[in-house]
Amino acid sequence: MWQNPRDFHLHFFFLIGLFFAVAGIASAGGGGGGGDADAMSEFAKSLGNPPKDWIPGSDPCSSKWTGVLCSGGRVTAINLRGRGLAGTLPSSLSSLTSLQSLFLPGNQLSGPLPSFGKLATLQEISVSSNFFNFVPPDFFSGLSGLQKISLDDNPLAPWELPDSFADCPLVSVSASNASISGALPDFFDRLSSLQSFRLSYNNISGPLPASLPRSPIRELLLNNQQGTKLSGRIDVIGQMEQLSLLWIQSNAFSGPIPDLSNLTTLQSFNVRDNALTGVVPNSLVTVSTLKNVSLSNNDLQGPMPKFGADVSADIDKGNNFCLPQAIPCDIKVMQLLAVAAGFGYPAVFASSWTGNDPCGGGSVWVGVICDQQGNIVALNFANKHLEGFISPEIANISSLTKVILNNNSLTGVIPNSLTHLRQLQLLDVSYNQLTGNIPNFASTVRLVEAGNKFGSDSSGGGGSDVPGSGGAPGSSSSSSGHQNGKSKSATGLVVGILLAVLVLVGCIAGFVYYILRRKRRMEQLKRVQMETYPDSPDVVKVGVLGLNDNGTVGSEGYPQSNYGESSDAALHRENSENIISIQDLRKATNNFSEDNILGKGGFGVVYRGVLSNGIVVAVKRCVLDMLSMKGVAEFKAEIGLIGKARHRHLVSLVGYCEHESERLLVYEYMPEGTLAQHLFDREGSRYCPLTWKQRLTIALDVAKAMEYLHSFMQGSFIHRDLKPSNILLDKDLRGKVSDFGLLKLAGDNEKSMATRLAGTFGYLAPEYATTGKITRKIDVYAFGVILLELMTSRKVLDDTVPDEDANLVAAFRRIHPRDIARLERFVDSSIFSDEESRSSIADLAEIAYHCTAREPSYRPEMSNVVTMLSPIADRWCPGNYGDGTDDGDSTVSLTSMVHRWQMSDDSSYNYSFSNYRPGTSNLR
Ligand SMILES: *[C@@H]1O[C@H](CO)[C@@H](O)[C@H](O)[C@H]1NC(C)=O
Ligand SMILES: *[C@@H]1O[C@H](CO)[C@@H](O)[C@H](O)[C@H]1NC(C)=O
Ligand SMILES: *[C@@H]1O[C@H](CO)[C@@H](O)[C@H](O)[C@H]1NC(C)=O
Ligand SMILES: *[C@@H]1O[C@H](CO)[C@@H](O)[C@H](O)[C@H]1NC(C)=O
Ligand SMILES: *[C@@H]1O[C@H](CO)[C@@H](O)[C@H](O)[C@H]1NC(C)=O
Ligand SMILES: *[C@@H]1O[C@H](CO)[C@@H](O)[C@H](O)[C@H]1NC(C)=O
Repeated sequence: MWQNPRDFHLHFFFLIGLFFAVAGIASAGGGGGGGDADAMSEFAKSLGNPPKDWIPGSDPCSSKWTGVLCSGGRVTAINLRGRGLAGTLPSSLSSLTSLQSLFLPGNQLSGPLPSFGKLATLQEISVSSNFFNFVPPDFFSGLSGLQKISLDDNPLAPWELPDSFADCPLVSVSASNASISGALPDFFDRLSSLQSFRLSYNNISGPLPASLPRSPIRELLLNNQQGTKLSGRIDVIGQMEQLSLLWIQSNAFSGPIPDLSNLTTLQSFNVRDNALTGVVPNSLVTVSTLKNVSLSNNDLQGPMPKFGADVSADIDKGNNFCLPQAIPCDIKVMQLLAVAAGFGYPAVFASSWTGNDPCGGGSVWVGVICDQQGNIVALNFANKHLEGFISPEIANISSLTKVILNNNSLTGVIPNSLTHLRQLQLLDVSYNQLTGNIPNFASTVRLVEAGNKFGSDSSGGGGSDVPGSGGAPGSSSSSSGHQNGKSKSATGLVVGILLAVLVLVGCIAGFVYYILRRKRRMEQLKRVQMETYPDSPDVVKVGVLGLNDNGTVGSEGYPQSNYGESSDAALHRENSENIISIQDLRKATNNFSEDNILGKGGFGVVYRGVLSNGIVVAVKRCVLDMLSMKGVAEFKAEIGLIGKARHRHLVSLVGYCEHESERLLVYEYMPEGTLAQHLFDREGSRYCPLTWKQRLTIALDVAKAMEYLHSFMQGSFIHRDLKPSNILLDKDLRGKVSDFGLLKLAGDNEKSMATRLAGTFGYLAPEYATTGKITRKIDVYAFGVILLELMTSRKVLDDTVPDEDANLVAAFRRIHPRDIARLERFVDSSIFSDEESRSSIADLAEIAYHCTAREPSYRPEMSNVVTMLSPIADRWCPGNYGDGTDDGDSTVSLTSMVHRWQMSDDSSYNYSFSNYRPGTSNLR
């Protein structure tokens, strides 16, 4: 039969093999059957209270133990939910090699979870709501069939998701309140079947891993992590296209909600109690499947989203939406948010950019500087730890004159659109990581660009400074010199032509712009006047004393036509020449109650009062100097003088009252108190230090008021007591000069007159103190002192400092105003002192130096001061004034202006109005 021995051998070995194979299977089968019984017996024994029919030694399959399912004599499932089972799980369970499901939730099982190492068959483990205390590190190893696991609500020792977790073909994971700590591993690209991932109430920290969208997760619950919580941005959510339920509330996520337009099945979106910023994307609002959304308690910005009526929405609490209703925000808000978007909506802006008015409305928007008309004129984002890129939409804020972005970590390029900012004067991008080429800015733009990587994107172009080889004839006049050196002459020609075209377009645009701007200015002027007379006619009527004899009013003076004829009270008051009865004043001030005292001065006590028509006023109650017989006459005369003075920066007189020896003056109420309170009264005062911008603005306000007193009115009024406690601040911290108790009319013919000395020490000009001669120059001197006080926040006479410095003027005049280093020791340390404020501080110091000159003829007129001060204030806060100075003639240096007034005949104050004024000269 087997002729060939070789055949025989083959068949022999085949038969031997077959025998051992069959024997092996038989023995394995027999041993396995006994193993299941043994393992189950072990299990029954390890339970304190096993089901009654779990009799150790019996076969769990043939005798049908409760909750045990078998197949082919093998245990395939153990299913005992909520049976009150106590005890532990024995390691012998790992020998149930046919076990597919271990389902034991809601018992009292305790001890460690076993290692199931060999159970490739196991598909489901559910041990939620027990008392297990330990997950062994190899718990998931070798569970190559595990699809579903539930570990929730066990008092486990802290553990981290092991790498082997991702080797299981998991579909559903639920391990909330299961003491998981550490970060979420970046292993989701391997979990390619995962649909439900519920890990709420753990101690997980760190960011959402980048691989998260590689899993087809439908339900992601990571809410309420303890400890440092999950953090970072949630951008990956935007790529989780299968997502239907997202609960990540009560974590520390930041940054914006991403574009969710690819999430077409989203039903529940809960991100409340995080630190999310930015604008809620429209893609969330438009998800048609959405049922449930919760956004409260973040720092979300922009318009409040409006969800459909069928969506249960919790959005309005604890966010920074521009308005408490779902209506559009102010355009400026949206423009600024578009800029912030480039930086990833940093928290620094999200927390301070509140409300719907970046230029007022009670909140200070960090880094946003506006002018008086509410235009955004500067963005100062220096040193704000910004990342991201410069948004091209910055160019939408067309009023910008300064964009300051230095010392951040910005990447990308300077967008070309910035060259469209027609008013841009300064762009500081120094010390960032910007790349690419610098766009071609107009020569009027000062570009600060040090400390970047410009040109590093282009191939090896080492020197971005000078176009060494290019030298194209057409581009010879390039103003900025930032073109890349690679340009060959052909491209140079093209560039040249382009430049020429650009220049032409620029000229045309400039012309159109000029026309438009002129128009806008006219409108602004109208607007300012409209605003000056608000809807309430009483205020205006009463605010203007009826002495309508002054036809010529300066640009800032209140026009003297009749406003608001409707009010009876006003008519009555005008008829009686603004006399207010003592009874009315008693009523208004609660009978001159101590509680109503606003301040006391050498000339009387000032009370806060509310007139019967609701107007809040300051009532100054002076007792006449009994020694001065001229007193009564002077009072009347001076009432007349003040009555004529109407100027935006002079406190207006509402009325007055003569009663026995008392004289009462009723002024408009100034809610922000006096400049002295703001400058000197810091401790225990309710005021914040004034910013440099505010100080410059106040200085200019006062200068304009004094210019008006000195020269706008027929004759010339001399205040004689100009000092910070006589400068009141309105609700916008604009300055108004008050206290005309010493006001003197310098007759047209007299340049000066001698009277008895009056005023306040420290502010008295030296020649006035010695001769008593009153000239306009004594006010100029006092104004110079105030400038010094504005710079230093120090009183002119300060006995708390060493003798040599006790007199601010003397100490100041020992240093040269351009000696910035020495000047700095004078300047109030609370003033923001970057390079730019430093240079304007030096300019201010120079003006102060001239104003405080010993020799009166060396001092400028107030009109000269306004001329010199305007461009400084404008440079710092351009467009501050709607009166035609907001173009700022920055081409005229302070030195040359000083020179001009020094060369002029300062005896004629007409000079200053016939000559150039900053801002208008370059338009005419
Ligand atoms: C967490 O689990 C414990 C039991 O381990 C339970 O007492 C507690 O209530 C659970 N906490 C939450 C928030 O569900
Ligand atoms: C969270 O885990 C950290 C370590 O990762 C630990 O220090 C901290 O105590 C844990 N916090 C809680 C609430 O479990
Ligand atoms: C949405 O999906 C498309 C196609 O995969 C992709 O090109 C696009 O970038 C996605 N959008 C977002 C916002 O992720
Ligand atoms: C919305 O979510 C909250 C929890 O965030 C839940 O209590 C509520 O039942 C959900 N409502 C709907 C309609 O899904
Ligand atoms: C900025 O201007 C562009 C072009 O005019 C416009 O599409 C965009 O909506 C503007 N952005 C904002 C925030 O106004
Ligand atoms: C910006 O950074 C540079 C270099 O680190 C440093 O010299 C400079 O003082 C910084 N400027 C400001 C305003 O912090």
